[in-house]
Amino acid sequence: MLSQFMLRILQPRGRAVSLRLLNRYWKIDSISRGHRQSAVASGNAERLRSGREGRLAFFNHLFEEFGFGIGDTSDGSIITLDFGAPGKPELEGCIDILNKATQHRMKTENGYMFQYGCRRGDYKFRLQMSKFLTEEYDDEVDCGELLVTCGATNGLYMVASMLFNRGDTVFIEDPSYFIALEMFGKDLGMNVVPVPRNGEGINIEEFDKVLSEYQRASSHHPTEQRPYWSMVYLIPTFNNPKGTCLSTEKCEQIVKLARKYNILLFCDDVYNLLSYIPGEKPEDKPLPPPRRLFAYDKKTDPDYVGNVISNGSFSKILGPGLRIGWMEAPLKVLDVIENSAFTMSAGGWNNYTSAILASALELGLVSKHLLEKRKKYRDNLDSMYQVFMDDMPPGVKIFKPQGGFFIWIEFPEDIDTEKLRDVCEKEYSVSFVPGKSFSTTGSFGNCARVAITYYERDVLVTAAKKICAAAKTFCKN
Ligand SMILES: Cc1ncc(COP(=O)(O)O)c(C=O)c1O
Repeated sequence: MLSQFMLRILQPRGRAVSLRLLNRYWKIDSISRGHRQSAVASGNAERLRSGREGRLAFFNHLFEEFGFGIGDTSDGSIITLDFGAPGKPELEGCIDILNKATQHRMKTENGYMFQYGCRRGDYKFRLQMSKFLTEEYDDEVDCGELLVTCGATNGLYMVASMLFNRGDTVFIEDPSYFIALEMFGKDLGMNVVPVPRNGEGINIEEFDKVLSEYQRASSHHPTEQRPYWSMVYLIPTFNNPKGTCLSTEKCEQIVKLARKYNILLFCDDVYNLLSYIPGEKPEDKPLPPPRRLFAYDKKTDPDYVGNVISNGSFSKILGPGLRIGWMEAPLKVLDVIENSAFTMSAGGWNNYTSAILASALELGLVSKHLLEKRKKYRDNLDSMYQVFMDDMPPGVKIFKPQGGFFIWIEFPEDIDTEKLRDVCEKEYSVSFVPGKSFSTTGSFGNCARVAITYYERDVLVTAAKKICAAAKTFCKN
């Protein structure tokens, strides 16, 4: 195991990860069957002939641009269980929330919401966020440790690009969120190395050895600008793609490792607020999520230096179009971002949107919306899980998460889910993401990720049944 990781040191810097990822999505010039169907169905076939510019101008959003349906099935497109995004009714719900919040804010607004913002972001927003998060996490969130971002991707990019250099090593879980992997390897030229794992996830003992080897080979000396020599990218709560949560024991162990080796644990906490953990009675509000890793890095510990970031977003709980998120981070990280030319030039990120959202939070509109979505997504999850449990052929394992957006499915070893996905698309008009897409090592070729939020429950159930029907035939052959 170790030698495999050591070999990676010898590979050319920044290219340790083989980026086969995104091939399917990121070919902007290829219009897939789904979009062809939707275009023809809505009488707009003409636009398919009008060249790249015309096509790009026409689309409403990213998924449509890449040839997938609009979030319902009225356009006749395939049902795609690929996307970790809210569906149409959720987005429509944002209209009312943003209307009310805008009216509330404008009553007292003096115009400064349209000025460059202060560097950590609108104070009222950060204050409201700390109250909201403290309530939702059932754990203290300090307003003084919050920084406003343009969403989780922006937070990740700022940290990876401002605190690290090309060629620096970033450790990742395998499998992980494929766009983050692509960002590290392709956009930022970092050396992407998988964290060793065993049956229970991260293999802490092995990781300790790997970190020791890599640190020895590193020439990094901590400075204010670059306080850590390396970073670990984690999705500890309701993981994408597996839906799992890091156990309390692993959280404690990994924080200890981070302190020992002076590394940064970057937690993409975009699903934390979507907990479906049942309360005492079925009708009770679902319980708060497991404690985020950030809270394990206790300031009262004698060896505290600040090794964890919690990177949050409104994309999953309200709407990705808002492009707003937040980071809870150690002060030395906030200092680097605040004092960067990038932030100095632009002021606080997304000043206008955060000002409006401060009102939405103050009026309790976000909490209400979030609770409704948690109940709805939990019902979606329960229904889809039941279909998979009842209808999948023998030998298929279904992993039910306690929150987040995804169900992870493990087929028998000999099943290639890329091929199964092709059959699903061609013969059953349904799709999912094959497990290999989340791996830098070509693993998980027998796995699949399905999303539970982009459509309404009846459509999701139909899609789940179709995948089971396809799997039954496919597994026999
Ligand atoms: C783990 C993870 N991080 C980040 C994002 C993107 O977040 P945002 O829209 O806030 O940039 C996603 C969306 O799929 C995600 O799953």
